[in-house]
Amino acid sequence: MNERVIKIVEAVVRQNSRTTPADGVLRIELKRQKELSPDLARKAARAVFAIFRWRGWIDATRTIVEQIEEADALQERFKKAPTSFPDDELLAHAVPAWIKDEMEVSSSWLRSLQSEPRLWLRARVGQGDQLAAILGDCWIPPQRALADCVEYLGSEDLFRTREFHAGELELQDINSQIVSLICAPKPGETWWDACAGEGGKLLHLSDLMQNKGLIWASDRTEWRLKRLKIRAGRSKAFNYRSVLWDGGAKPPTKTKFDGALVDAPCSGVGTWQRNPHARWTTTAEDVAELAAVQKRMLRTVAGSIKPGGRLIYSVCTLTKAETSDVARDFQEAFPDFICEPIVNPLKPEATPTNDLCLWPSDGGNGMYIAAWRRQKEAGRQETKQT
Ligand SMILES: C[S@@+](CC[C@H](N)C(=O)[O-])C[C@H]1O[C@@H](n2cnc3c(N)ncnc32)[C@H](O)[C@@H]1O
Repeated sequence: MNERVIKIVEAVVRQNSRTTPADGVLRIELKRQKELSPDLARKAARAVFAIFRWRGWIDATRTIVEQIEEADALQERFKKAPTSFPDDELLAHAVPAWIKDEMEVSSSWLRSLQSEPRLWLRARVGQGDQLAAILGDCWIPPQRALADCVEYLGSEDLFRTREFHAGELELQDINSQIVSLICAPKPGETWWDACAGEGGKLLHLSDLMQNKGLIWASDRTEWRLKRLKIRAGRSKAFNYRSVLWDGGAKPPTKTKFDGALVDAPCSGVGTWQRNPHARWTTTAEDVAELAAVQKRMLRTVAGSIKPGGRLIYSVCTLTKAETSDVARDFQEAFPDFICEPIVNPLKPEATPTNDLCLWPSDGGNGMYIAAWRRQKEAGRQETKQT
Protein backbone atom coordinates (compact mmCIF):
# COMPACT_ATOMS: atom_id res chain seq x y z
CA MET A 1 0.00 0.00 0.00
CA ASN A 2 1.27 3.47 -0.90
CA GLU A 3 2.93 5.28 2.04
CA ARG A 4 1.42 8.66 1.19
CA VAL A 5 -2.07 7.19 1.04
CA ILE A 6 -1.56 5.56 4.45
CA LYS A 7 -0.34 8.86 5.93
CA ILE A 8 -3.36 10.77 4.65
CA VAL A 9 -5.84 8.16 5.87
CA GLU A 10 -4.16 8.02 9.25
CA ALA A 11 -4.27 11.82 9.63
CA VAL A 12 -7.98 11.96 8.80
CA VAL A 13 -9.03 8.99 10.92
CA ARG A 14 -6.99 10.18 13.92
CA GLN A 15 -8.49 13.69 13.75
CA ASN A 16 -11.95 12.19 13.71
CA SER A 17 -14.13 14.32 15.99
CA ARG A 18 -17.52 15.97 16.12
CA THR A 19 -16.16 19.38 15.19
CA THR A 20 -13.89 18.23 12.36
CA PRO A 21 -15.93 16.49 9.65
CA ALA A 22 -13.84 13.85 7.86
CA ASP A 23 -14.50 15.23 4.38
CA GLY A 24 -13.19 18.66 5.42
CA VAL A 25 -10.07 17.21 7.07
CA LEU A 26 -9.49 15.02 4.02
CA ARG A 27 -9.66 18.06 1.73
CA ILE A 28 -7.04 19.82 3.86
CA GLU A 29 -4.77 16.76 3.99
CA LEU A 30 -5.00 16.27 0.22
CA LYS A 31 -4.12 19.93 -0.35
CA ARG A 32 -1.08 19.55 1.92
CA GLN A 33 0.30 16.76 -0.25
CA LYS A 34 2.12 18.39 -3.12
CA GLU A 35 1.84 16.70 -6.51
CA LEU A 36 -0.22 13.77 -5.34
CA SER A 37 -1.57 11.98 -8.39
CA PRO A 38 -5.37 11.98 -8.85
CA ASP A 39 -5.25 8.21 -8.59
CA LEU A 40 -3.61 8.27 -5.13
CA ALA A 41 -5.94 11.06 -3.97
CA ARG A 42 -8.91 8.92 -5.02
CA LYS A 43 -7.48 5.88 -3.23
CA ALA A 44 -7.01 7.89 -0.02
CA ALA A 45 -10.56 9.29 -0.18
CA ARG A 46 -12.01 5.84 -0.86
CA ALA A 47 -10.14 4.33 2.08
CA VAL A 48 -11.22 7.10 4.49
CA PHE A 49 -14.88 6.79 3.56
CA ALA A 50 -14.75 2.96 3.68
CA ILE A 51 -13.33 3.05 7.23
CA PHE A 52 -16.15 5.31 8.45
CA ARG A 53 -18.76 3.34 6.46
CA TRP A 54 -17.69 0.10 8.15
CA ARG A 55 -16.68 1.63 11.45
CA GLY A 56 -19.30 -0.40 13.35
CA TRP A 57 -17.47 -3.58 12.32
CA ILE A 58 -13.85 -2.42 12.46
CA ASP A 59 -11.60 -2.67 15.51
CA ALA A 60 -10.33 0.92 15.87
CA THR A 61 -7.35 -0.20 18.00
CA ARG A 62 -5.76 -1.94 15.00
CA THR A 63 -3.19 -0.21 12.79
CA ILE A 64 -4.43 2.05 10.04
CA VAL A 65 -3.25 -0.38 7.37
CA GLU A 66 -5.22 -3.19 9.01
CA GLN A 67 -8.28 -0.95 9.23
CA ILE A 68 -7.99 -0.04 5.53
CA GLU A 69 -7.73 -3.73 4.61
CA GLU A 70 -10.63 -4.72 6.82
CA ALA A 71 -12.87 -1.98 5.41
CA ASP A 72 -11.91 -2.99 1.89
CA ALA A 73 -12.74 -6.64 2.55
CA LEU A 74 -16.11 -5.74 4.10
CA GLN A 75 -16.95 -3.49 1.12
CA GLU A 76 -16.06 -6.26 -1.33
CA ARG A 77 -18.11 -8.81 0.59
CA PHE A 78 -21.08 -6.45 0.67
CA LYS A 79 -20.80 -5.92 -3.09
CA LYS A 80 -20.61 -9.62 -3.89
CA ALA A 81 -22.92 -11.04 -1.21
CA PRO A 82 -25.11 -8.28 0.27
CA THR A 83 -27.43 -10.79 1.93
CA SER A 84 -24.54 -12.10 4.00
CA PHE A 85 -25.22 -8.94 6.04
CA PRO A 86 -28.70 -9.42 7.55
CA ASP A 87 -30.82 -6.31 8.21
CA ASP A 88 -30.54 -6.58 11.99
CA GLU A 89 -26.74 -6.62 11.73
CA LEU A 90 -26.82 -3.49 9.53
CA LEU A 91 -29.18 -1.77 11.95
CA ALA A 92 -26.90 -2.58 14.87
CA HIS A 93 -23.62 -1.55 13.22
CA ALA A 94 -24.20 0.81 10.28
CA VAL A 95 -26.15 3.57 12.03
CA PRO A 96 -26.37 5.03 15.54
CA ALA A 97 -29.02 3.55 17.84
CA TRP A 98 -31.02 6.81 18.15
CA ILE A 99 -31.95 6.93 14.46
CA LYS A 100 -34.79 4.39 14.68
CA ASP A 101 -36.69 6.76 17.01
CA GLU A 102 -36.40 9.57 14.45
CA MET A 103 -37.32 7.95 11.12
CA GLU A 104 -38.63 4.81 9.49
CA VAL A 105 -35.59 2.65 8.97
CA SER A 106 -36.01 0.40 5.95
CA SER A 107 -33.87 -2.43 4.69
CA SER A 108 -33.29 -0.61 1.38
CA TRP A 109 -32.10 2.52 3.18
CA LEU A 110 -29.64 0.58 5.35
CA ARG A 111 -28.34 -1.24 2.29
CA SER A 112 -27.91 1.93 0.26
CA LEU A 113 -25.83 3.40 3.11
CA GLN A 114 -23.30 0.59 2.83
CA SER A 115 -22.74 0.94 -0.90
CA GLU A 116 -20.50 3.54 -2.51
CA PRO A 117 -22.28 6.72 -3.67
CA ARG A 118 -22.69 7.68 -7.30
CA LEU A 119 -20.96 10.75 -8.73
CA TRP A 120 -23.32 13.28 -10.30
CA LEU A 121 -22.51 16.36 -12.36
CA ARG A 122 -24.73 19.21 -13.43
CA ALA A 123 -24.27 20.49 -16.94
CA ARG A 124 -25.41 23.97 -17.95
CA VAL A 125 -29.05 24.10 -19.06
CA GLY A 126 -29.46 22.23 -22.34
CA GLN A 127 -25.85 20.97 -22.40
CA GLY A 128 -26.10 17.54 -20.74
CA ASP A 129 -25.54 15.50 -23.91
CA GLN A 130 -22.66 17.71 -25.01
CA LEU A 131 -20.88 17.49 -21.66
CA ALA A 132 -21.36 13.71 -21.53
CA ALA A 133 -19.90 13.37 -25.02
CA ILE A 134 -16.82 15.45 -24.13
CA LEU A 135 -16.10 13.68 -20.83
CA GLY A 136 -17.01 10.16 -21.93
CA ASP A 137 -17.95 7.45 -19.37
CA CYS A 138 -21.21 9.23 -18.56
CA TRP A 139 -24.82 8.24 -18.14
CA ILE A 140 -27.87 10.53 -18.28
CA PRO A 141 -31.20 9.50 -16.72
CA PRO A 142 -33.93 8.99 -19.34
CA GLN A 143 -36.40 11.43 -17.72
CA ARG A 144 -36.61 14.64 -19.78
CA ALA A 145 -36.41 16.95 -16.76
CA LEU A 146 -33.07 15.40 -15.81
CA ALA A 147 -31.40 15.83 -19.19
CA ASP A 148 -28.61 17.99 -17.72
CA CYS A 149 -27.97 15.69 -14.80
CA VAL A 150 -24.97 13.55 -15.70
CA GLU A 151 -23.63 10.55 -13.81
CA TYR A 152 -19.85 10.30 -14.18
CA LEU A 153 -18.49 6.76 -14.27
CA GLY A 154 -14.94 7.55 -15.36
CA SER A 155 -11.78 8.12 -13.38
CA GLU A 156 -10.54 11.54 -14.54
CA ASP A 157 -9.94 14.23 -11.92
CA LEU A 158 -12.82 16.47 -12.96
CA PHE A 159 -11.41 19.46 -11.06
CA ARG A 160 -8.57 19.53 -13.57
CA THR A 161 -10.76 19.54 -16.66
CA ARG A 162 -11.21 22.54 -18.94
CA GLU A 163 -15.00 22.13 -18.53
CA PHE A 164 -14.79 22.56 -14.76
CA HIS A 165 -12.67 25.71 -15.01
CA ALA A 166 -14.95 27.12 -17.71
CA GLY A 167 -17.99 26.68 -15.42
CA GLU A 168 -19.50 24.08 -17.74
CA LEU A 169 -19.91 21.50 -15.00
CA GLU A 170 -20.59 21.45 -11.27
CA LEU A 171 -20.29 18.42 -9.04
CA GLN A 172 -23.79 18.27 -7.63
CA ASP A 173 -25.87 15.42 -6.32
CA ILE A 174 -28.90 14.46 -8.45
CA ASN A 175 -31.37 15.07 -5.64
CA SER A 176 -29.91 18.53 -4.96
CA GLN A 177 -30.41 19.29 -8.64
CA ILE A 178 -34.03 18.21 -8.27
CA VAL A 179 -34.56 20.89 -5.58
CA SER A 180 -33.76 23.73 -8.02
CA LEU A 181 -35.79 22.06 -10.76
CA ILE A 182 -38.78 22.08 -8.40
CA CYS A 183 -38.15 25.77 -7.64
CA ALA A 184 -38.34 26.33 -11.42
CA PRO A 185 -37.60 30.09 -11.25
CA LYS A 186 -38.35 32.07 -14.39
CA PRO A 187 -35.94 34.50 -16.09
CA GLY A 188 -36.54 38.02 -14.75
CA GLU A 189 -38.05 36.93 -11.42
CA THR A 190 -36.74 37.92 -7.98
CA TRP A 191 -35.80 35.03 -5.68
CA TRP A 192 -34.34 34.59 -2.23
CA ASP A 193 -31.97 31.68 -1.62
CA ALA A 194 -32.14 32.01 2.15
CA CYS A 195 -29.46 29.44 3.04
CA ALA A 196 -27.29 29.84 -0.03
CA GLY A 197 -24.10 28.50 1.57
CA GLU A 198 -21.44 27.91 -1.07
CA GLY A 199 -24.06 28.29 -3.75
CA GLY A 200 -24.68 24.77 -5.09
CA LYS A 201 -28.36 25.43 -5.69
CA LEU A 202 -27.96 29.15 -6.34
CA LEU A 203 -25.79 28.51 -9.40
CA HIS A 204 -28.43 26.15 -10.73
CA LEU A 205 -31.24 28.65 -10.03
CA SER A 206 -29.24 31.34 -11.83
CA ASP A 207 -28.75 29.10 -14.85
CA LEU A 208 -32.46 28.23 -14.94
CA MET A 209 -33.16 32.00 -14.88
CA GLN A 210 -30.76 32.48 -17.82
CA ASN A 211 -28.85 34.92 -15.60
CA LYS A 212 -31.85 37.32 -15.76
CA GLY A 213 -33.68 38.74 -12.75
CA LEU A 214 -32.16 38.70 -9.27
CA ILE A 215 -31.42 36.20 -6.52
CA TRP A 216 -30.71 37.36 -2.99
CA ALA A 217 -28.21 34.88 -1.56
CA SER A 218 -28.07 34.88 2.22
CA ASP A 219 -26.21 32.79 4.74
CA ARG A 220 -24.93 33.31 8.24
CA THR A 221 -21.41 32.19 7.35
CA GLU A 222 -19.24 34.69 5.54
CA TRP A 223 -16.65 32.20 4.25
CA ARG A 224 -19.36 30.20 2.53
CA LEU A 225 -20.56 33.31 0.70
CA LYS A 226 -16.94 34.01 -0.31
CA ARG A 227 -16.72 30.55 -1.84
CA LEU A 228 -20.01 31.19 -3.58
CA LYS A 229 -18.47 34.30 -5.16
CA ILE A 230 -15.57 32.25 -6.59
CA ARG A 231 -17.91 29.59 -7.94
CA ALA A 232 -20.28 32.19 -9.40
CA GLY A 233 -17.32 33.82 -11.16
CA ARG A 234 -16.40 30.51 -12.76
CA SER A 235 -20.01 29.92 -13.84
CA LYS A 236 -20.49 33.52 -14.93
CA ALA A 237 -23.58 33.76 -12.73
CA PHE A 238 -24.10 37.49 -12.29
CA ASN A 239 -27.75 37.85 -11.28
CA TYR A 240 -27.24 37.48 -7.53
CA ARG A 241 -26.44 39.64 -4.53
CA SER A 242 -25.09 38.14 -1.33
CA VAL A 243 -25.90 39.22 2.19
CA LEU A 244 -25.33 37.92 5.70
CA TRP A 245 -28.45 36.69 7.51
CA ASP A 246 -28.50 34.80 10.78
CA GLY A 247 -31.81 33.02 10.18
CA GLY A 248 -33.60 35.23 12.73
CA ALA A 249 -36.90 37.11 12.66
CA LYS A 250 -35.55 40.10 10.69
CA PRO A 251 -35.14 39.40 6.98
CA PRO A 252 -32.03 40.93 5.35
CA THR A 253 -34.11 43.05 2.94
CA LYS A 254 -37.57 44.58 2.56
CA THR A 255 -37.76 43.14 -0.97
CA LYS A 256 -40.78 40.93 -1.66
CA PHE A 257 -39.97 37.85 -3.67
CA ASP A 258 -41.54 35.84 -6.47
CA GLY A 259 -40.02 32.80 -4.83
CA ALA A 260 -37.76 31.70 -2.01
CA LEU A 261 -35.78 28.58 -1.31
CA VAL A 262 -35.08 27.61 2.30
CA ASP A 263 -32.46 24.90 1.86
CA ALA A 264 -32.18 24.75 5.59
CA PRO A 265 -29.39 23.61 7.91
CA CYS A 266 -30.26 20.07 9.00
CA SER A 267 -28.87 16.93 10.60
CA GLY A 268 -27.75 15.67 7.17
CA VAL A 269 -28.99 12.11 7.69
CA GLY A 270 -29.69 12.01 3.94
CA THR A 271 -25.95 12.35 3.26
CA TRP A 272 -24.86 9.39 5.38
CA GLN A 273 -24.03 7.30 2.33
CA ARG A 274 -21.74 9.97 0.87
CA ASN A 275 -20.48 11.22 4.21
CA PRO A 276 -20.41 8.20 6.58
CA HIS A 277 -18.39 10.03 9.22
CA ALA A 278 -21.49 12.10 10.05
CA ARG A 279 -23.31 8.97 11.29
CA TRP A 280 -20.97 8.94 14.26
CA THR A 281 -21.02 12.64 15.06
CA THR A 282 -24.68 13.60 14.62
CA THR A 283 -26.99 13.29 17.64
CA ALA A 284 -30.71 13.21 18.37
CA GLU A 285 -30.25 16.60 20.09
CA ASP A 286 -29.02 18.04 16.78
CA VAL A 287 -32.24 16.89 15.15
CA ALA A 288 -34.41 18.71 17.70
CA GLU A 289 -32.31 21.89 17.59
CA LEU A 290 -32.20 22.06 13.81
CA ALA A 291 -35.92 21.41 13.46
CA ALA A 292 -36.49 24.53 15.61
CA VAL A 293 -34.10 26.56 13.41
CA GLN A 294 -35.93 25.39 10.28
CA LYS A 295 -39.34 26.36 11.67
CA ARG A 296 -38.04 29.81 12.59
CA MET A 297 -36.48 30.39 9.18
CA LEU A 298 -39.61 29.39 7.26
CA ARG A 299 -41.69 31.81 9.31
CA THR A 300 -39.37 34.73 8.56
CA VAL A 301 -38.99 33.93 4.88
CA ALA A 302 -42.76 33.53 4.46
CA GLY A 303 -43.23 37.21 5.33
CA SER A 304 -41.08 38.17 2.34
CA ILE A 305 -43.06 36.28 -0.29
CA LYS A 306 -45.30 38.26 -2.65
CA PRO A 307 -48.94 37.22 -2.91
CA GLY A 308 -48.90 34.52 -5.58
CA GLY A 309 -45.22 33.81 -4.88
CA ARG A 310 -43.74 30.45 -3.96
CA LEU A 311 -41.84 29.06 -1.00
CA ILE A 312 -39.74 25.90 -1.26
CA TYR A 313 -38.38 24.10 1.80
CA SER A 314 -35.68 21.47 1.38
CA VAL A 315 -33.44 19.52 3.74
CA CYS A 316 -30.96 16.72 3.09
CA THR A 317 -32.28 14.70 5.97
CA LEU A 318 -34.98 12.12 6.52
CA THR A 319 -35.93 12.50 10.18
CA LYS A 320 -39.63 13.13 10.78
CA ALA A 321 -38.96 16.04 13.16
CA GLU A 322 -37.05 17.96 10.49
CA THR A 323 -39.21 17.11 7.46
CA SER A 324 -42.97 16.51 7.62
CA ASP A 325 -43.27 17.90 11.18
CA VAL A 326 -41.69 21.20 10.08
CA ALA A 327 -43.91 21.36 6.99
CA ARG A 328 -47.01 20.72 9.12
CA ASP A 329 -45.97 23.35 11.66
CA PHE A 330 -45.55 25.87 8.85
CA GLN A 331 -48.85 24.97 7.22
CA GLU A 332 -50.74 25.40 10.50
CA ALA A 333 -49.14 28.79 11.18
CA PHE A 334 -49.58 30.10 7.62
CA PRO A 335 -52.92 28.95 6.22
CA ASP A 336 -52.62 31.49 3.38
CA PHE A 337 -49.78 29.41 1.95
CA ILE A 338 -51.30 26.64 -0.11
CA CYS A 339 -49.42 23.42 -0.49
CA GLU A 340 -48.28 22.93 -4.10
CA PRO A 341 -48.26 19.30 -5.25
CA ILE A 342 -44.84 18.24 -6.50
CA VAL A 343 -44.10 16.20 -9.60
CA ASN A 344 -41.14 13.93 -8.90
CA PRO A 345 -38.77 14.39 -11.87
CA LEU A 346 -37.61 10.80 -11.33
CA LYS A 347 -41.20 9.53 -11.69
CA PRO A 348 -42.99 12.10 -13.86
CA GLU A 349 -45.90 9.73 -14.54
CA ALA A 350 -46.73 9.31 -10.82
CA THR A 351 -49.45 11.39 -9.16
CA PRO A 352 -47.99 14.63 -7.74
CA THR A 353 -47.63 14.59 -3.96
CA ASN A 354 -47.84 17.29 -1.28
CA ASP A 355 -44.22 16.72 -0.38
CA LEU A 356 -41.39 14.69 -1.80
CA CYS A 357 -39.01 12.38 -0.01
CA LEU A 358 -36.08 11.19 -2.10
CA TRP A 359 -34.01 8.31 -0.76
CA PRO A 360 -30.39 7.32 -1.43
CA SER A 361 -31.86 4.26 -3.18
CA ASP A 362 -33.20 6.77 -5.76
CA GLY A 363 -29.55 7.41 -6.70
CA GLY A 364 -28.47 10.41 -4.63
CA ASN A 365 -28.61 11.98 -1.18
CA GLY A 366 -31.75 11.58 0.89
CA MET A 367 -33.73 14.81 0.47
CA TYR A 368 -37.10 16.16 1.60
CA ILE A 369 -38.88 18.91 -0.35
CA ALA A 370 -42.15 20.76 0.29
CA ALA A 371 -43.57 23.69 -1.68
CA TRP A 372 -46.27 26.31 -1.06
CA ARG A 373 -47.80 29.20 -2.97
CA ARG A 374 -48.97 32.29 -1.13
CA GLN A 375 -52.61 33.06 -1.82
CA LYS A 376 -53.38 36.18 -3.80
CA GLU A 377 -56.47 37.29 -1.82
CA ALA A 378 -56.28 40.66 -0.17
CA GLY A 379 -56.87 41.04 3.55
CA ARG A 380 -54.73 38.08 4.56
CA GLN A 381 -53.41 38.12 8.11
CA GLU A 382 -49.75 37.53 8.68
CA THR A 383 -49.05 35.12 11.50
CA LYS A 384 -46.77 36.46 14.16
CA GLN A 385 -43.34 34.94 14.82
CA THR A 386 -43.24 32.70 17.86
C1 LIG B 1 -27.88 22.85 3.61
S1 LIG B 1 -26.74 24.11 3.72
C2 LIG B 1 -27.06 25.06 2.27
C3 LIG B 1 -26.49 24.47 1.03
C4 LIG B 1 -26.64 25.35 -0.17
N1 LIG B 1 -28.00 25.81 -0.37
C5 LIG B 1 -26.15 24.63 -1.42
O1 LIG B 1 -26.99 24.17 -2.21
O2 LIG B 1 -24.94 24.55 -1.59
C6 LIG B 1 -27.41 25.12 4.95
C7 LIG B 1 -26.77 26.47 5.12
O3 LIG B 1 -27.44 27.14 6.17
C8 LIG B 1 -26.50 27.95 6.82
N2 LIG B 1 -27.00 28.20 8.18
C9 LIG B 1 -26.92 27.42 9.25
N3 LIG B 1 -27.52 27.97 10.30
C10 LIG B 1 -27.98 29.15 9.88
C11 LIG B 1 -28.69 30.18 10.50
N4 LIG B 1 -29.08 30.13 11.77
N5 LIG B 1 -28.99 31.25 9.75
C12 LIG B 1 -28.64 31.33 8.46
N6 LIG B 1 -27.96 30.37 7.80
C13 LIG B 1 -27.64 29.28 8.52
C14 LIG B 1 -25.22 27.20 6.79
O4 LIG B 1 -24.12 28.09 6.88
C15 LIG B 1 -25.31 26.47 5.48
O5 LIG B 1 -24.60 27.17 4.49
